[in-house]
Amino acid sequence: MSSSYVEVTWTDEVTGTKGYVVVDRLSRGVGGGGLRMRQGCTLAEVRDLAQAMTLKEAVVYQAGDRYVPLGGAKGGIDLDPYDPRAREVLGRFARAMKPLIEGYFATGEDFGLRQDLIDEVFAEEGIRSSAESALRLVDDGADAAHARLRRAFAQDVDGVGLGEVVGGYGVAECTLAAMQFRGLAPDDTRAVVQGFGSMGGATARYLARAGVKVVGIADKDGLVANDDGLDVERLLLTRDRFGVVDRAQLRPADRRLPGQAWLTADADVLVPAAMSYAITVADVPEIKASIVAEAANVATLPDAEAALVERGVTVVPDFVANVGTNAWWWWVAFGDIEPTVEASLRKLSTTLRPLTAEVLQRADATGVSPRQAATQISDEKRTSSATSFPTSVKAPAVAR
Ligand SMILES: NC(=O)c1ccc[n+]([C@@H]2O[C@H](COP(=O)([O-])OP(=O)(O)OC[C@H]3O[C@@H](n4cnc5c(N)ncnc54)[C@H](O)[C@@H]3O)[C@@H](O)[C@H]2O)c1
Repeated sequence: MSSSYVEVTWTDEVTGTKGYVVVDRLSRGVGGGGLRMRQGCTLAEVRDLAQAMTLKEAVVYQAGDRYVPLGGAKGGIDLDPYDPRAREVLGRFARAMKPLIEGYFATGEDFGLRQDLIDEVFAEEGIRSSAESALRLVDDGADAAHARLRRAFAQDVDGVGLGEVVGGYGVAECTLAAMQFRGLAPDDTRAVVQGFGSMGGATARYLARAGVKVVGIADKDGLVANDDGLDVERLLLTRDRFGVVDRAQLRPADRRLPGQAWLTADADVLVPAAMSYAITVADVPEIKASIVAEAANVATLPDAEAALVERGVTVVPDFVANVGTNAWWWWVAFGDIEPTVEASLRKLSTTLRPLTAEVLQRADATGVSPRQAATQISDEKRTSSATSFPTSVKAPAVAR
């Protein structure tokens, strides 16, 4: 395993909370990746996620795009996002990491943290944008990039902000492409989604809109299930800001089950869209689904993923399935697309459906796992993008 470009461990002077930033590598002087908040978050987890970000940055690149892959990075704070001190701890973390954020760590929302909270708290610390370091690379300038991002984030998609929709919309498009590749028609397909925040909420919405029966949705309080299909739009309206469904508003036929029941549900598709390491090797024999689409980063432990693939289950790897948010930020900021709902969803669909098919075709044709095939594709794209901007480096002599 290669070493990171930089790893920082921070201790909050008031609460003792630990926070981490790992920059796996810089490219064009920047590493990009989200910032999460969860109790139990470790440096090793943040490092894993930063490495996946390096693959994610490159995997959607297409020759001619204005955006060129950055390096991968990640941030994490070891605190329950429900902790009443969460906001002030985020503020002190931002203050401590400001030189990195403004220098070369471009970040945004991830598990436990929403972009609007990050924006608010970072602004209080004098940080114009969580992605400031990447925006200075934009051809027509950071101000133009800010304006496009502001317009894009102001768009509403049936009651949910566009910035919160794009990630899960991308997961749904990848899942639908995998279903098509494996011959599963949406109307005959049942899906269960673990996590109902930014990623899980939009994934469930767009799978349901495509005709898939969403028979289970898990949040931190357990699984809500209905064999005839849940009313996803209604459940979306009952969510609190942490992605938890208001149980008082369930329909009579909706059942409440323990959270772990999501794994063993009678479904064709499983979408882990909550925490990392959600599927272990011990879970594999219980899984009935033939497709697992990893909305969550590192959702499946490596030995579990190998066992699933061995059993013939199609695992769409995290850095393909959930690339939507990251790619969309750069497509908007660098001006590859107009900051509108229509342009955003079109670009996601026309990029992610063929990419998923390419990954699965290569995996089948060469006898490797989808993750291995996608890693090859990402590496090839990073190499080809280097001709557009030949400064991709693991450890530059001077960090900008
Ligand atoms: N938000 C993004 O843009 C983005 C992009 C790429 C990948 N991801 C990944 O997707 C995953 C989800 O991120 P998010 O931003 O949607 O998070 P979020 O905080 O918006 O939502 C998390 C959801 O998980 C649920 N949850 C928490 N603990 C749970 C448990 N023990 N069992 C079942 N559900 C539980 C919460 O109730 C909530 O519904 C993370 O792994 C994240 O790294 C997020």
